[in-house]
Amino acid sequence: MIKKTGTSYGDEGFSQFIRMAFQRHLGYDETDYDKPVIGICNTFSEINRCHSHLKPIIEAIKHGVIMAGGIPLEFPTISVGEMFTTPTTMLYRNLVAMDTEEMIAAQPIDGVILIGGCDKMTPAQLMGAASANKPAIMITGGPMNNGEYNGKTLGACSDCRFFWQEYKAGTVNETELNDINKQLAPTAGHCMVMGSASTIAACAESMGMMLPGTAAAPATVNERLRLAKETGKAIINLVKENIRPSDIMTKNAFDNAVRTVMAVGGSSNSVIHLIAIARRLGIKLTLDRFDELSKSTPFIANIRPAGEYQMEDLYKAGGMPAVLKELSPLLHVDEMTVTGKTLKENIVDVKINPVYRHIIRTLEEPLYSNGGIKVIKGNLAPAGAVIKPKAVMNKKFLKHKGNAVVFTSLQDMEQRVNDPNLEVTEDSVLVLQNAGPVGAPGMPEAGMIPIPDKLLKQGVRDMLRLSDCRMSGTAFGSVVLHVAPEAAVGGPIGLIKDGDVIEIDVEKGSLELLVSEEELAERKKNWSPPSFDDYTTGYKWLYRQHVLQADKGCDFDFSAKNS
Ligand code: FES
Repeated sequence: MIKKTGTSYGDEGFSQFIRMAFQRHLGYDETDYDKPVIGICNTFSEINRCHSHLKPIIEAIKHGVIMAGGIPLEFPTISVGEMFTTPTTMLYRNLVAMDTEEMIAAQPIDGVILIGGCDKMTPAQLMGAASANKPAIMITGGPMNNGEYNGKTLGACSDCRFFWQEYKAGTVNETELNDINKQLAPTAGHCMVMGSASTIAACAESMGMMLPGTAAAPATVNERLRLAKETGKAIINLVKENIRPSDIMTKNAFDNAVRTVMAVGGSSNSVIHLIAIARRLGIKLTLDRFDELSKSTPFIANIRPAGEYQMEDLYKAGGMPAVLKELSPLLHVDEMTVTGKTLKENIVDVKINPVYRHIIRTLEEPLYSNGGIKVIKGNLAPAGAVIKPKAVMNKKFLKHKGNAVVFTSLQDMEQRVNDPNLEVTEDSVLVLQNAGPVGAPGMPEAGMIPIPDKLLKQGVRDMLRLSDCRMSGTAFGSVVLHVAPEAAVGGPIGLIKDGDVIEIDVEKGSLELLVSEEELAERKKNWSPPSFDDYTTGYKWLYRQHVLQADKGCDFDFSAKNS
């Protein structure tokens, strides 16, 4: 145990001697020295509610490690949860990734088990593990069970948004809203629709970084404890075989992950996260690749927000192994996984129960013939933007031309969006500027710009909205996101003025600002970068100096291998 690495004192004999004393301090002796040491990256937190139930899972992992002949040692890393982090968790994803990377690298461990769950945690841990590149395996805390109100299934947090909008429109009263609120997050676990947490878990499984079946098993089922124990056993094999993240997260594995996102109607945030993880390994994953694979990947998992069911239902239908089995003709099935076997070997015996074919559709009769995310480009987004066409409520906005109503910041939007004098109609295009990675900073999930109250009361439920920020994977509507480059670094989105005509054609993949080139050049000449005086020191300052744009995954330029 702990023979080769540890603190250096410039005298190796003394270093060994003092290490031995502290190994004894941990309760180990010479009989343990040859056993693999497995770090368990413990992200338990009472503030990050999605990780507050991890203790029994960690215990089960430890049992697995010990059963397989290893020594499990927990260590803490940062844990950030979506709802309680100011101003937004995305600002801290890279900090979690740095913490994870450096602790895996610095500590005397032979392999590591990552415990993800909440939206930013799973991608951040995969980023860190990719850079550290010691044998690693992921497990999540699992999704919550379905909520229910008045016989209707509720899901966090698609229904948080849906019912809040209805409340503002006056169709749901305060008592009903309060009763619904009590059931939105009914059990331990992460959000249970196909939001970012469920999507990245599905990707981790399809890339081979998690054991088969781990993504969809609810946080509350015994199966998750069994999977935790098996995860503990599996890491020992990865250490013995020296199988590292770079052997598993290959270029082909990222293709599998992208196809998974498309097939399950996954979160738009997964585009940013997968690009960031790939770049940690020097793999070039572009928006164009997402678009290419989206065109040829049928949308087969009938899961909210684009479908009808939730993760608990997907689990009963066979979980991700069943989805991957159905998708397998389109996947690179010879890729290595954390089982020590290929994806093909993992799913060879999987049978899809016909009883659940309304949840996992066939490739021949999918929900939609292509994927859940579309990349769009044009003079308004030269480096690209994304939209979820299947989450669009009013399909007329898939091909639309309208006048811009511009909000120059999040604060401006909050102050004016419900102003009764705001000149806005259902056909206007709501634009939010300066909410990107640098501008906000941290690219918050504010892209589902609220529909002005006065329009909600007239029955309007969807409008074309456009911004350089993100939206929650649980959100919905005609929402163009991740416009790059962002306004704060001089992107054309920052040049839009009230009344400008914006044209979108989702099928063609185009997004244009119908303003002459001369006029745009003039506006650019008069544009000056915002002067930021909010964060002049510390991590937030560092973030703003080094964060990359959305099309490059919003990692730090010094962390990505191909910045
Ligand atoms: Fe953690 Fe939704 S709040 S996944």
